[in-house]
Amino acid sequence: MDYRVKPPPREQSSMKWLRRPQTIGLQFRAGRLEDLESLYALEVELFGAQIWSREHLSRALSDTGQEFRLALDGAQLVGYLWLDWTTGERGTLEVDGLVVAPAYRRRKIAERLLHWAVERAVQAGWPRLQLKVRADNLPALKLYSKFGFHKVEDLPGVYVGKDGLLLRLEQLPARAPEFARKRSQLEGWQGRG
Ligand SMILES: CC(C)(COP(=O)(O)OP(=O)(O)OC[C@H]1O[C@@H](n2cnc3c(N)ncnc32)[C@H](O)[C@@H]1OP(=O)(O)O)[C@@H](O)C(=O)NCCC(=O)NCCS
Repeated sequence: MDYRVKPPPREQSSMKWLRRPQTIGLQFRAGRLEDLESLYALEVELFGAQIWSREHLSRALSDTGQEFRLALDGAQLVGYLWLDWTTGERGTLEVDGLVVAPAYRRRKIAERLLHWAVERAVQAGWPRLQLKVRADNLPALKLYSKFGFHKVEDLPGVYVGKDGLLLRLEQLPARAPEFARKRSQLEGWQGRG
């Protein structure tokens, strides 16, 4: 298969059945270079010193091999997912970042962002998503296990001495209808708080 490095076009008419669900009171859109300061501020708020540098984020936002999906409450950035089309082996789309602001957690924002990542892989005909996660990050592990990610490798000490895991979600184009069903269930979800 010819795995492209550049992301596929954002909307494909044949994929209308896989459309993203609407979210009550929140908007989702692509991230751009103009979003740099809000992305950086969210990183600082959540992770203090252990964050991507402003320069690294700026390069990523300008790079056609990276894609950001943002969740916003009005003008306020409340979450994002960062996809990298260039790091993994061919056909492997990597989730480089997934973050939701504390006040907005448990409202299925991460789940919606992750469904978007699945959709992007499916649109491109790429068979798998992969990501790294800290081995003690239980909320994230539960989220990924809900999507069917499985461990492919232990990554001892990769997070400033803390252990990590490499997880993968595979067989994506074939599993697209399953994800479309889950997504439409999410569409009917009214949210908490
Ligand atoms: C992990 C994180 C992104 C989840 O965001 P979120 O928007 O609150 O997650 P959602 O509301 O979409 O939750 C979806 C599923 O994830 C799991 N989950 C999320 N938070 C959880 C928690 N605190 N405890 C247990 N399970 C949790 C559940 O399975 C949940 O499904 P359910 O609501 O049906 O039980 C968020 O906690 C976060 O930003 N954490 C800090 C950054 C981080 O760890 N990112 C991941 C790096 S790999």
